[in-house]
Amino acid sequence: MKTIGVLTSGGDAPGMNAAVRAVVRTACENHIKVYGIDRGYKGLMEGSLIPMEIRTVCDIIHRGGTMLHSARSKEFATEEGMQKAIEICHAYGIEGIVVIGGDGSFRGARDLSERGIPCVGIPGTIDNDIACCDYTIGYDTCLNTIMEMVDRIRDTSASHDRCSVIEVMGRRAGYLALNAGIAVGATAILIPEVEFDLKRDVFDRIRRTQKTGKKHFLVIVAEGVTADGNITVDELAKAIEEETGVESRAMVLAHVQRGGSPTVRDRVVASQMGYRAVELLMDGIGNRVVAMQKDQIVDYDIFEALNMKKHIDMNLYKMANIISI
Ligand code: F6P
Repeated sequence: MKTIGVLTSGGDAPGMNAAVRAVVRTACENHIKVYGIDRGYKGLMEGSLIPMEIRTVCDIIHRGGTMLHSARSKEFATEEGMQKAIEICHAYGIEGIVVIGGDGSFRGARDLSERGIPCVGIPGTIDNDIACCDYTIGYDTCLNTIMEMVDRIRDTSASHDRCSVIEVMGRRAGYLALNAGIAVGATAILIPEVEFDLKRDVFDRIRRTQKTGKKHFLVIVAEGVTADGNITVDELAKAIEEETGVESRAMVLAHVQRGGSPTVRDRVVASQMGYRAVELLMDGIGNRVVAMQKDQIVDYDIFEALNMKKHIDMNLYKMANIISI
């Protein structure tokens, strides 16, 4: 392989830059020309390609976001869009692409691979919701950001004897909420994977904890819980106040969770994954997803990866409920 492309797609995640850097440097060391594709598949269809050199990726390892920008493209999902992208690859001599993103981005990578442009996916999303991976780039940084923000909220919540109800991201998955909830010592954690009963899992828990002398509370809610129109965090805060008498406030942490300098873990894993992705392409292997399983870097067929299922660790959930009282 003489020329490859690298793109970031879907929601950005801290550590994507470290992955781009690893891809570019591994390729350069192996005399492979690299194009950075600006704004994901949209940029590929439009031919927004930037030649990358060793020094193009200087001073990015510590930066959040993605220097290649990101986009979600509906047009790319059409056959016409796909053909436009393939024409650009042929025009620039691109023989393989490293795609850094989530499940949606991997579907695009699979479709391109099937049409003769081998692609290797790298899991980059704060949600940690990619079935074939124990860990996705950005997840650790995001968890630490949530923890820091909620610790701050706790200071004011404790000063006023309040209950703070905090919604965190995660799309349809509760990994962020569960782990952040444990890390901040939340009294209740609501995630989409586990059915809940507000009386049993929130109001009664708060009442029981009140009896032990505690006067301030944290409730962490995954956005997957509110997404179905079940209940908003504002409604939940109001209900908690009515049911328990504890003054309550609601907040949605939103995009602050996606920014910031990546943690050590995200930088190291992203570097390992970027390196492995180029190794695969150099061996002429495409249609793969690089993943982390039991702390090892492995890879899967994209089709297989997209059909895998991942489950929340119910022991962790059970433990969270026991020790949060
Ligand atoms: O997938 C990352 C993520 O931040 C999700 O947690 C969230 O549901 C979604 O992206 C938000 O997307 P947008 O930035 O388009 O609002």
